[in-house]
Amino acid sequence: MKRIIIDTDPGVDDSMAILLAFNSPELKIEGLTTIFGNTGTTITTQNALRLVELAGHPEVPVARGAEKPLLRPFTGEGWRVHGRNGLGEVEFPAPQGQPDPRRAAQFIVDTVMANPGEITLVPVGPLTNIALAAMLEPRIVGLVKEVVLMGGAAGVPGNVSAVAEANVHNDPEAASIVFHAGWPVTMVGLDVTQQTIMSPAYLDALKQDGGQLTSFIRAIVQHYLQFHLDQGVPGIYVNDSSAIAYLIDPTLFTTRHLFVDVEYQSRYHVGQTVADWRGRRGQAPNCHVCLGVDSERFLAIYRQRLIGAS
Ligand code: BDR
Ligand code: CA
Repeated sequence: MKRIIIDTDPGVDDSMAILLAFNSPELKIEGLTTIFGNTGTTITTQNALRLVELAGHPEVPVARGAEKPLLRPFTGEGWRVHGRNGLGEVEFPAPQGQPDPRRAAQFIVDTVMANPGEITLVPVGPLTNIALAAMLEPRIVGLVKEVVLMGGAAGVPGNVSAVAEANVHNDPEAASIVFHAGWPVTMVGLDVTQQTIMSPAYLDALKQDGGQLTSFIRAIVQHYLQFHLDQGVPGIYVNDSSAIAYLIDPTLFTTRHLFVDVEYQSRYHVGQTVADWRGRRGQAPNCHVCLGVDSERFLAIYRQRLIGAS
């Protein structure tokens, strides 16, 4: 069983990913750490608390993370995609639980130091908390099992600019720290997340054949689905759940080990993940970049886990 911390900005697709993780026997969630991104950190923290309760795991700690990027103001417009409350503008009662007294970076450091070699970090939002944790206690770089992140785009266009993916774009300096820290990094980026699409029919069947969790998903996903349909996509891209799928079964994906840099200075390219496909920089690879995915098998696994849970 892989022991994971999910660093997250829920977020519609974050919520779908967290529910997949909670219902996958290959994974044990040690905590959720929250970050700004799809909306602000106060709201993402409330949503994370809601999700652990909905999943039937209120004992799982939720630690509140950074409110803004390391060096810039937070200007992201993810709320347009996820709704102002991060949950597709569907209203839910306040969660019962409270966040852990520690901030996210401290929670990550404490958990990794207490479990050397055991913990996989799974950031599916901007990388600020992960960078802060590595700066707070650099020894965690050698003690984390691996970092499997949703973010970046190596060989495909960006989704918030011509070249940048939202999570990296929202804090490119933090992303640069994380990519170059020296720990094993796997990038589950738009190269693969946009290869897997959940159609309206797939989402309807999920609700029809499942129970409480899939009804929740179908309700919150509508806003996010409409955003995709308006862009001409025939369903939703499966972003954050792809990182969880990689953890469940890495053989779903094909990867290449490449040197990846993060652009944070350029006028037009801020947030781009620049993969050195031909080794021109002469640098050792620092990242396993996911490039292919067996989408059919992945969609079957998602359905089986969520329906089985309900
Ligand atoms: C990423 O950005 C956020 O909007 C999603 O939750 C996902 O983590 C996709 O670019
Ligand atoms: Ca996210």
